[in-house]
Amino acid sequence: MAKLSIIGAGAVGTAAAHWAAVKGVAEEIVLIDIVPDLAKGKALDIAQSAPVYGFSARILGTEDFSALKDSEVVILTAGRPRKPGMSREDLLRVNLEIVRSCAEEVKRHAPDCVLIVVTNPIDAMVYAAFRITGFPRERVLGMAGVLDSARYRYFLAEALGVAPEDVQALVMGIHGDHMLPLVRLANVAGIPVTELLPREKIAEIVERTRKGGGEIVSYLKTGSAFTTPGLSAVEMAEAIFRDANRVLTCSVWLQGEFGFSEVFIGVPVVLGRGGLKRVLEFSLTPEEREALSASVAEVKKQMHLTGL
Ligand code: NAI
Ligand code: 2OP
Repeated sequence: MAKLSIIGAGAVGTAAAHWAAVKGVAEEIVLIDIVPDLAKGKALDIAQSAPVYGFSARILGTEDFSALKDSEVVILTAGRPRKPGMSREDLLRVNLEIVRSCAEEVKRHAPDCVLIVVTNPIDAMVYAAFRITGFPRERVLGMAGVLDSARYRYFLAEALGVAPEDVQALVMGIHGDHMLPLVRLANVAGIPVTELLPREKIAEIVERTRKGGGEIVSYLKTGSAFTTPGLSAVEMAEAIFRDANRVLTCSVWLQGEFGFSEVFIGVPVVLGRGGLKRVLEFSLTPEEREALSASVAEVKKQMHLTGL
């Protein structure tokens, strides 16, 4: 039986459970939170949409981490979003302790799962989960590239007046200001966007993509994006459950690919049963390489702060 567990029944975890149910990615979906009864209430609400929408997944909510048992995929969303006045380092310290306790539970109860980490700062948190679980790199993945690429694709589609699904584009690197929305490879049904949009408009979209998370926080004020982040994590989980060999950008532990080692960074990978199948490596221009190096340097600083 395909079982998906989601840790953290906050905004992103609840959205992920909802998307997983309607997309039919697993037969059983477990939602876990430390706040008493929170996950139970969220799970029951989602479960009650089954007769209206017509899905058959069983949805359970609990505070008991032993419910992780037999999960093929676990999505980790537990953690705080950044509040005004909080530095990235402050957030890192707070969320590190949450990720530490959750990763220990994952290791104890679901030692064979593929773990998808969503908690921010993502590249450092997925590194922490990798060290704490001791899982092989194939089974510890960070979610950010699917979300950042979706934002980039959406903004390009909006500017071009075309269907978003016909825009292909990828964002590599850190989930932060140094992320790398690739211009050269962005296309609409194979046509380079550089032939369809003026250079200044593309530059504006690249900048808006880099600040995509902050733009939503500035509107929501009390939290950060959750609908597309939840779906993006489920997209990765679905590729794993269906052994789909999807090409998605994920934060993975590099071992020489793109010339970098021992760092978690967003790169395009092939995802299927068991998690990471391979990194899809390709040649970067000198400018792209320099931008990716800046991302790597930033993540290495954050990894160092974890003390792991
Ligand atoms: P939220 O505050 O709505 O939910 C977090 C939930 O985690 C809360 O319900 C809380 O009770 C729970 N939690 C805290 N400690 C726990 C523990 N030890 N065990 C189980 N549950 C625990 O936050 P939201 O909006 O869902 O965001 C969650 C995280 O995801 C944040 O760190 C946020 O920055 C990050 N995020 C990352 C994205 C990415 O692209 N990687 C995109 C969007 C959010
Ligand atoms: C986002 O990009 C806050 O990381 C979160 O929406």
